[in-house]
Amino acid sequence: MEKDCNNASVEVMSNKQVIYREKVRGSLKETNLKVKTSLERPKADKDSGTIAVKNLYLACEPYNLHLIKYFTRLGSPVPGYGVARVLESGHPNFKKGDLVWGMTRWEEYSLITAPETCFKIEHTDVPLSYYTGLLGMPGLTAYAGFFEVCSPKKGDNVFISVASGAVGQLVGQFAKLFGCYVVGSTGSKERVDLLKNKFGFDDAFNFKEELDLDAALKRCFPKGIDIYFENFGGKMLDAVLLNMKFHGRITVCGMVSQYNLERHEGIHNLINLVLKRVRMEGFVESDYYHIYPKFLEMVLPQIKEGKIVPVEDIVEGLENSPAALVGVFSGRNVGKQMVVVSRE
Ligand SMILES: NC(=O)c1ccc[n+]([C@@H]2O[C@H](COP(=O)([O-])OP(=O)(O)OC[C@H]3O[C@@H](n4cnc5c(N)ncnc54)[C@H](OP(=O)(O)O)[C@@H]3O)[C@@H](O)[C@H]2O)c1
Repeated sequence: MEKDCNNASVEVMSNKQVIYREKVRGSLKETNLKVKTSLERPKADKDSGTIAVKNLYLACEPYNLHLIKYFTRLGSPVPGYGVARVLESGHPNFKKGDLVWGMTRWEEYSLITAPETCFKIEHTDVPLSYYTGLLGMPGLTAYAGFFEVCSPKKGDNVFISVASGAVGQLVGQFAKLFGCYVVGSTGSKERVDLLKNKFGFDDAFNFKEELDLDAALKRCFPKGIDIYFENFGGKMLDAVLLNMKFHGRITVCGMVSQYNLERHEGIHNLINLVLKRVRMEGFVESDYYHIYPKFLEMVLPQIKEGKIVPVEDIVEGLENSPAALVGVFSGRNVGKQMVVVSRE
């Protein structure tokens, strides 16, 4: 609400949006997206099964590019995960004022047509921004990927690529708390320091400075790798395959080095899966929504006790979100990249 010239409350009808303007060919560019203001804000009709929300925080992550490329029509707002407040509800499970996190759109106000896929935020004694990272989709990804797919054992040698990203930083911290030896790779000296000094990794390296990734992995893991948490793909996966231990596990979470390529790189060392009896398995976090309460039960006390620390990279204003998303693919972000739409 804003005040008109008679000091009466009037509803603001504009809605700033970031729309998909031009088809992505090769790498994502800022010009593929456009900020515009529409003169309507969506409303949720009574009993429509929808909710109208005010977006507060939006996650900026590789998943946005996947959604843009494969699920967004030109002219529509960019979809993505975010934290929002319910303005009107036509759905029995939500009421005005509720805070939710889930799939929304890059705009000030959104109509969520499948609110059953959103999670109500019950714990507000932690920063709300955490629900775009640590307590949101990346957190659940890290938890499910590590505890449900990696089959970890105390003392395992764990390697994580894209380790300072939203998912990687948490996998590393979970693995350390579980009693593993943990090494991460990342793309800058600053982020190597973050891994070692903030997140408590045992070792870390900058993949951009290593001419021979196989040699870097042999230096960090002279006895080999039990668990590889794969976020990178391409040349990193190929080098890891040469360094897996017998009966090791490769959990494939993502392959960010491939997303901007017209043609994905080939992998040459897959025979090691056979020779070393390695299990390689992909997963998608949405298959694990049912364990979200169990995840919260474990992670909330650890946050409050300071055993898990998130690092966030916060950009102010929707108009800066295209640059922030492009930056995620050049490693400009340090920690979880998010955009603040409104601090209410
Ligand atoms: N399976 C699932 O359900 C699921 C869910 C969420 C995410 N994921 C995947 O998990 C991975 C990490 O996601 P996230 O949300 O944690 O990412 P993020 O925090 O947004 O991290 C992006 C980071 O990726 C690295 N990067 C970007 N472009 C790259 C390139 N061309 N080559 C190499 N590294 C590059 C950069 O870090 P550095 O250069 O410092 O390494 C950048 O800071 C991605 O592969 C994503 O697709 C999967």
